[in-house]
Amino acid sequence: MIKKCREVFEEKFGGDGEIRQYFAPGRVNLIGEHTDYNGGHVFPCALTIGTYGIARKRTDRKLRFYSMNFETTGIVESSLDEVKPGADSLWTRYVKGVIWAFAEKGHVIETGFDFLCLGTIPNGSGLSSSASIEVLTGTILKDLYGFDVNMVDVSLYSQLAENRYVGVNCGIMDQFAIAMGKKNHAIFLDTATLDYQYAPVQLEGAKIVIGNTNKKRGLGDSKYNERRAECEKALEEIQAVKKIPSLGALSEEEFEEVKSAIADPVRVKRARHAVYENQRTIRAVEALKNNDVAQFGQLMNASHVSLRDDYEVTGIELDTLVEAAWKQPGVIGARMTGAGFGGCTVSLVKDEHVDAFIAGVGAAYRGKIGYDADFYVVEIGDGPQVLA
Ligand code: GLA
Repeated sequence: MIKKCREVFEEKFGGDGEIRQYFAPGRVNLIGEHTDYNGGHVFPCALTIGTYGIARKRTDRKLRFYSMNFETTGIVESSLDEVKPGADSLWTRYVKGVIWAFAEKGHVIETGFDFLCLGTIPNGSGLSSSASIEVLTGTILKDLYGFDVNMVDVSLYSQLAENRYVGVNCGIMDQFAIAMGKKNHAIFLDTATLDYQYAPVQLEGAKIVIGNTNKKRGLGDSKYNERRAECEKALEEIQAVKKIPSLGALSEEEFEEVKSAIADPVRVKRARHAVYENQRTIRAVEALKNNDVAQFGQLMNASHVSLRDDYEVTGIELDTLVEAAWKQPGVIGARMTGAGFGGCTVSLVKDEHVDAFIAGVGAAYRGKIGYDADFYVVEIGDGPQVLA
């Protein structure tokens, strides 16, 4: 894969000078959805699919970009002087956003670079293709310009780029999961403090199967920001009766005691999801530590129900995929993953049932929705790498 990228890079930009090669993964979240902007816990992992990148420092202020995923766009030329929020609508905004965010944090680059990428994550599938490019860019900036920035900061600068340059008010989960990924481990992250622990995911005799609804999900035009605002308002209403920093600080019992402070029944549901999902995530990680994979799966199922009924971010495509998954033999648990409103599901499926699972869920989906879902049996991979 990287060899092909290198060839195309040399063909587009020429083969002189020091050319460096990189990879940053995508991510899937196992449980803890829509908790990361509510001071709760998440439990994502990096994947072995992701974004390959090639870069070479320039001596002038030019930036030249090429994506093998958007070949018709061709080479995009820009300059460091054009790196400003709101100036860009192409895929290159993810790269420029990170250049901008690094500069905001005092890591200014004076010369540009040539950049080529190839993503193996389906765009808009909810497996964080954009966060993958952002963290890839952070990794490149660190390596090419020698910035002394740790990977947690790379994730924070990438989030800053997404929030302020791209204009999507996302939490820290995606960028953190990608920057801090570790093979065969998921990351139990407390988004209130950024404390994290790696938990081995040893699914004896089972695989992680991702189902792609093929319904594109653009975070910007989705109701993501609306959900976030609903949670913020509910928090404010609760804070009038109880001093808490975030919804993630509440136990289920505490929430039940204070929920009458929330004036609107819809906001009660939104906040209930945030609180219960956080507690479910803590319990799920505990179950996994105790090798109770069945319990982990039950909690994944409960997470989906809450996202469907209380948070209302699923929709017919995700519900059809997940509900068909629940009916298949050998399924330990299944839920939507990521922001929702389309995108992907994640299921844990026993090895010997994987083929039948894909056939059965695929047929049910096509029957109801009228087009195909795609399935990927994935592996948990490491964070970003500088490739030889
Ligand atoms: C998107 C955002 C994340 C997180 C999830 C929902 O992936 O980028 O920050 O909020 O949705 O859990």
